[in-house]
Amino acid sequence: MDAAHMGADLEKVLITEDEIRARLQELAAEIWAEYDGKDLLLVGVLKGAVMVMADLSRALPGTAPMDWMAVSSYGSGTKSSGVVRILKDLDTDITGKHVLIVEDIVDSGLTLSWIKSNLESRNPASVEICTLLRKPEAAKVEIDVKWVGFDIPNEFVVGYGLDYAEQYRNLRDVGTLAPHVYS
Ligand code: XMP
Ligand code: MG
Repeated sequence: MDAAHMGADLEKVLITEDEIRARLQELAAEIWAEYDGKDLLLVGVLKGAVMVMADLSRALPGTAPMDWMAVSSYGSGTKSSGVVRILKDLDTDITGKHVLIVEDIVDSGLTLSWIKSNLESRNPASVEICTLLRKPEAAKVEIDVKWVGFDIPNEFVVGYGLDYAEQYRNLRDVGTLAPHVYS
């Protein structure tokens, strides 16, 4: 798909590349203030969090290791069921480490809530969450997310790591899809 086509598939841009960069810079400073001097491990959730991890980690004023998990939600279609299967586990033993989960989006919260409990059962020093996006109206479980980039309306969004049928992850902005894309 060429660039003009990809842009035309967007209905509206919700958050621009520049806004994302500026917000991640703020979050990185806050996060570093919390973890400086601690044994921090960044944990990205594949594949959506790839862009957030790349930009957030490079905005940190110091270095921290990163690791990755891949999970899939059991259940019907596009809705998260909360029953999660690990497709790729961490390479790292997180015992005693301060884990920061880096996510693209918290929608119902079911997936992240499962991941957080799973990691907490491995005796880390702490587990916190940083997400670029959150849909407050879609929340189905209470989940304590310490760092949120942007709260957005309850609409399906793509770009900056987020996909529709694996497309659009490489869009630089975050936006909603035009209806013609679905039909
Ligand atoms: P939950 O509902 O468990 O969300 O918080 C789990 C995963 O669903 C994906 N998700 C989205 N992906 N646009 C996307 O491209 C969206 O608007 C959207 N909402 C949820 C995402 O992978 C998230 O981690
Ligand atoms: Mg995700």
